[in-house]
Amino acid sequence: SSTVQALASSLGVKLDAIPSEFVRSEDERPGTTTFRGPVPEIPVVDLAGRDRDRIAKAVSEAAEGWGIFQIVNHGVPAEAIAALQRVGRGFFEMPREEKEKYAVEPGSGSVEGYGSRLQKEPEGKRAWVDYLFHNVWPESRIDYKFWPESPPDYRKVNQEYARYLVSVMDEMLSSLSLGLGLEGHVIKEALGGEGVELLLKINYYPPCPRPDLALGVVAHTDMSAVTLLVPNEVPGLQVFKDGHWIDAKYIPNAIIVHIGDQIEILSNGKYKSVLHRTTVNKEKVRMSWPVFCSPPDDRAVGPLPQLVSEASPAKFKTKSYKDYKYCKLNKLPQ
Ligand code: SIN
Ligand code: FE2
Repeated sequence: SSTVQALASSLGVKLDAIPSEFVRSEDERPGTTTFRGPVPEIPVVDLAGRDRDRIAKAVSEAAEGWGIFQIVNHGVPAEAIAALQRVGRGFFEMPREEKEKYAVEPGSGSVEGYGSRLQKEPEGKRAWVDYLFHNVWPESRIDYKFWPESPPDYRKVNQEYARYLVSVMDEMLSSLSLGLGLEGHVIKEALGGEGVELLLKINYYPPCPRPDLALGVVAHTDMSAVTLLVPNEVPGLQVFKDGHWIDAKYIPNAIIVHIGDQIEILSNGKYKSVLHRTTVNKEKVRMSWPVFCSPPDDRAVGPLPQLVSEASPAKFKTKSYKDYKYCKLNKLPQ
């Protein structure tokens, strides 16, 4: 299957048409479904000062009310983020044959690699995005054959970024745990402790002649526990809040934290897995670097026993992360 990048460069941005497989149904088109009024901003949590109780309160309120927030003063140096973006963009600007060396292997059962489509959409629609997936943590789960060898410092830069993100993840999981009235270590342990895995995705959204009709990533919630994302400076992330699709504001060097399905389940529904999608831009390349923090495949995840009682029964089944993913990707009931 062709990549969106190859298609976009063959169309040229002046053309005012896109193939019909990219044209969204009326109720999905960003041109008509984006809310154009004064909207509340996605919460911003400042991690400066490392005041444990204040941060736990702010994180858990945002996770409950929104399922998404941005963090600033998170300890990842601006240089590490800039380097991550430089090498990621460098990879996508390589010739097609070079990128194809890292292509997803169909039928391998793994998401890792370079490609253009993950989920089949029911009406055969396509998303205006290409991507690269590879694990970044722990070391034992890394398969370097999916890590670009070029730009030459791609690997070093990504290893360094992953180490910083482990600390940010730990701080988020511990704040979420404290926010449930539990000890800080409870959520991470429920997710497999040191077995928690980080999977990096790079989204590459080429310029699109009809950004009013197409979508980058279609509406979804993340399967992960939490997702830690940095975008480039081109806006495009939208969040569904109180019945409206609203734009996320770009804050340089902030990390966007999505609450994913596994945290919604562990918290027995107190924290919300956020519904989101992305729009594309007529002139500019949009890119984003989400890192999915998830339990290992064989880890069973269900509502934390501390949160379940006769008065507050379990709202979700307990199942292995592998089974959860299988049902979600194949649109089967959970
Ligand atoms: C995603 O949800 O997969 C992409 C989010 C983004 O590009 O901002
Ligand atoms: Fe997502």
